[in-house]
Amino acid sequence: MDAMAAIHNRRSIKQFASNPVSRETLEKLLAAAYDAPSGASNYPCRFVVVTERDRLDRLGEAHPHCGWLKTAQAGIIVAADAGKSRYWLEDCCVAAQNLWVAATAMGLGMAWSAIYLSDNPEETAKREGHVRQVVALPDALRAPIVLGLGTPDYQVSERTKRPPMADVMHWGKY
Ligand SMILES: Cc1cc2nc3c(=O)[nH]c(=O)nc-3n(C[C@H](O)[C@H](O)[C@H](O)COP(=O)(O)O)c2cc1C
Repeated sequence: MDAMAAIHNRRSIKQFASNPVSRETLEKLLAAAYDAPSGASNYPCRFVVVTERDRLDRLGEAHPHCGWLKTAQAGIIVAADAGKSRYWLEDCCVAAQNLWVAATAMGLGMAWSAIYLSDNPEETAKREGHVRQVVALPDALRAPIVLGLGTPDYQVSERTKRPPMADVMHWGKY
């Protein structure tokens, strides 16, 4: 699948088949994250791959909107050393998008579990604390995103409703 097709075909997939994701596939995904851009070339991101059922199930309890991790065959915690870069959060997001598009290109399904909530530091700390405990993440690292993946267990063709393109895109001036 070429890059444009992977971008347009990407969907949130939240139910996965029971076959495992191979180590080779996970390494290809990590290579896609490794090649993501980084503000000021600081490269603060760190990644934790989880395939153990027990840990995946516990990640699915981080908050009420990520129970689908309980059927995921792998998870990737996108973490960062915030002290290394003012762009740590942006770097995590672009790395996550690389992972999501690469997973789509490889025929895998993926979804995003939000750990970081910009308007709620208490809830962020609670979710992050949970993730931190599940994967023994060092205190120095933030963990804004958990991605879950596997073979899709269903077919999604419809896009989620977006605002009309003409309301969102502007040419020359707003
Ligand atoms: C920043 C961000 C946070 C998200 N958090 C969650 C989440 O916690 N749980 C979840 O099920 N989906 C989450 N999603 C997935 C969105 O709900 C999804 O991308 C959106 O509905 C569009 O659907 P699509 O991904 O199929 O295009 C998140 C996506 C983004 C970009």
